[in-house]
Amino acid sequence: MEESLSSTSIVKNLETRFVGQRVIYYPSLASTMEAARREVQQGAAGGTVIIAGEQSAGRGRKKRTWLSPRGNIALSIILYPSAAYLPYLIMLASLAVVYSIESVTGLKPQLKWPNDVLINGRKVCGILIESAVRGRKVDYAIIGIGINVNLRLADFPEISPVATSLSDELGSGASCIDIIRRLLVEIERLYLDLPSGEFAYQQWRDKLVTLGRRVRVSWGETKYEGIAESVGRDGSLLLRCPDGSLTRIVAGDVTLRDYE
Ligand code: BTN
Repeated sequence: MEESLSSTSIVKNLETRFVGQRVIYYPSLASTMEAARREVQQGAAGGTVIIAGEQSAGRGRKKRTWLSPRGNIALSIILYPSAAYLPYLIMLASLAVVYSIESVTGLKPQLKWPNDVLINGRKVCGILIESAVRGRKVDYAIIGIGINVNLRLADFPEISPVATSLSDELGSGASCIDIIRRLLVEIERLYLDLPSGEFAYQQWRDKLVTLGRRVRVSWGETKYEGIAESVGRDGSLLLRCPDGSLTRIVAGDVTLRDYE
């Protein structure tokens, strides 16, 4: 889908108080994460968003690369949350992605703990959160979001078995502008709800494909296997291990064993 992504196309009449009220758009960038960090160093306001038309060195979790050619979404949002809210950012961001894709395309994404958004079992979005914490104080948090919007997976055989895009699922192109605008509204809404203690935990939990499934979780050298039994309100995964014990996992990479 041909559209003219720009700061104005995102900010104009955007119904938010602060998220996306300043958007810095680069037609091409190495990674929005680095650009966002530079903005933080220059005192960027909370809610500032960096968007790249395409990234030449998009970063995924665990030093993986993230493919983001033109026609897809690559953005980073700068926030200055209190330490208590830091664990919620991943839940909040993934739920906001689900809501925005649902409302713009009608597709029904699901979540794979901790932070992958899937459609029909394949990854359509990746989320990366980077933060700097000193003692109990969060200097900044940057939420990086990459969504495969108009990616022809047939052109990328290296990821096509595990990835999908909105256009491949829809059979036609989707609007990055519409999705980004909805996403920023949803992120702000969920973020501003945090102090009320009314985080949409139940909605987030309901979207998880992981629960009840046999999974393998790896974090560095540590590996767990078991049934993903539940999730805590802090976003941690409760894994029932083969010996009957329950292990709480706060971070890791999940493989759904029954997809293998
Ligand atoms: C993952 O699933 O591994 C996370 C992928 C995160 C990709 C996004 S695209 C926008 C932002 N800039 C980057 O370099 N990475 C994140």
